[in-house]
Amino acid sequence: MTTDVLLEWLIKSAIILFVLVTAVAYLTFLERKVMSWIQLRIGPNRVGPNLYGIVGDHKGEGRGFNFSAALKAKGGTWTDDDLNKFIASPKGFVPGTAMGFAGIPKDSERADVIAYLHTLSDNPVPLPTASK
Ligand code: HEM
Repeated sequence: MTTDVLLEWLIKSAIILFVLVTAVAYLTFLERKVMSWIQLRIGPNRVGPNLYGIVGDHKGEGRGFNFSAALKAKGGTWTDDDLNKFIASPKGFVPGTAMGFAGIPKDSERADVIAYLHTLSDNPVPLPTASK
């Protein structure tokens, strides 16, 4: 009899523990998702500026960021071509930029980064299709 009661208590405790652990894990997961979304949309500028909506946006303007004189003077908007050149060699494309980043030498990796930057938008500009 006491073994039965003990067993029942153990099983109930295990179920309650399982539900609690699952709930906490799920809430943690949701919190991370929501926080990273907020971070991307309105997130604070850290070492560099927040890049939401960067494709097609003016270079070195707005974003509540204190851009270098070099980037402010560059002019024009961030086309895929210019992003490609900047990411390949920030200091090569904008001599005097404050972006302390060596750049990404591999073409396919830059293509991935640019494709990702396209997604950071309310109205993503389609990526160019391969020329035939
Ligand atoms: C693949 C990674 C990166 C990408 C795609 C990227 C992209 C960009 C772009 C497009 C801008 C210009 C923003 C604008 O004109 O509004 C910028 C600026 C900047 N980024 Fe990056 N960045 C990267 C990595 C980094 C890293 C690792 C750092 C810091 C160590 C950094 C620091 C900065 C700073 C300080 C600026 C302002 C530059 C200036 O005022 O001259 N970035 N970044």
